Amino acid sequence: MELIFLEEVGSTNAYVKQHMSELSDCTIVYTSHQSDGRGRLSRKWIDTGENNIYMTFCLKPSCEFQEIYSNLTQYLSVVLCKTLEKYGVDSKIKWPNDVLVDGKKIAGILSETTMQGSSFKGIALGIGVNLNTPQTLLDSIDKPATSLAVILNKEIDREEFLKTLTDEFFLNYNKFLNTGFAMIRDFYLSHASFLNTDISVNVLGKIESGCAVDITQDGALVLEKDNIKNTLLIGDIL
Ligand code: BTN
Repeated sequence: MELIFLEEVGSTNAYVKQHMSELSDCTIVYTSHQSDGRGRLSRKWIDTGENNIYMTFCLKPSCEFQEIYSNLTQYLSVVLCKTLEKYGVDSKIKWPNDVLVDGKKIAGILSETTMQGSSFKGIALGIGVNLNTPQTLLDSIDKPATSLAVILNKEIDREEFLKTLTDEFFLNYNKFLNTGFAMIRDFYLSHASFLNTDISVNVLGKIESGCAVDITQDGALVLEKDNIKNTLLIGDIL
């Protein structure tokens, strides 16, 4: 595994996508400042200071895209929950891959696939973690957000956190590639923040509502309404 540190960059995901052909499989790119951080669904990921995590895994598991790669964001959300556990912090997962502590978002995960024509080149799997964001800055974010420093009331060593997270990631990464979401399903279900509650999900602009009753073996969300089950592969819980 190779680590590349950039003092400042537009977006670590964009950097990995641009340099996909030169970077080795399992390279990690991280930075102190992102001027153009990307979030899910074309949103922005705001830079909240240098002592936070803005990092992207460059992954080239094979020459052809496999469905299982779509679950890597959920794998990374589980990895983050396990990392937070090592800091004594309990967290929850909001489908598909937001990690929450006390109902507030502590991290965001974004996976981007790189293609050249119709050939699959690799995956830029990015994660931003609010490590040392002060409360004043968290208050300026449009949705409830928290940071590890605020939760633990002490400064968090970024390099130590990064090592704990990456070690946890690579511990079961190869097994995950062979097994898929089924490998993490029990852990994911036990940390799901939304199960057995009535929710609404934005699916590419269409709102789907119902009781969240299950997560399938493939990581999809099952909603139930009027005894009819509706399985969602993508979306954003509102
Ligand atoms: C979300 O919308 O919740 C996903 C946010 C993902 C942010 C991370 S920060 C590192 C990497 N580089 C980016 O531009 N985005 C991801």
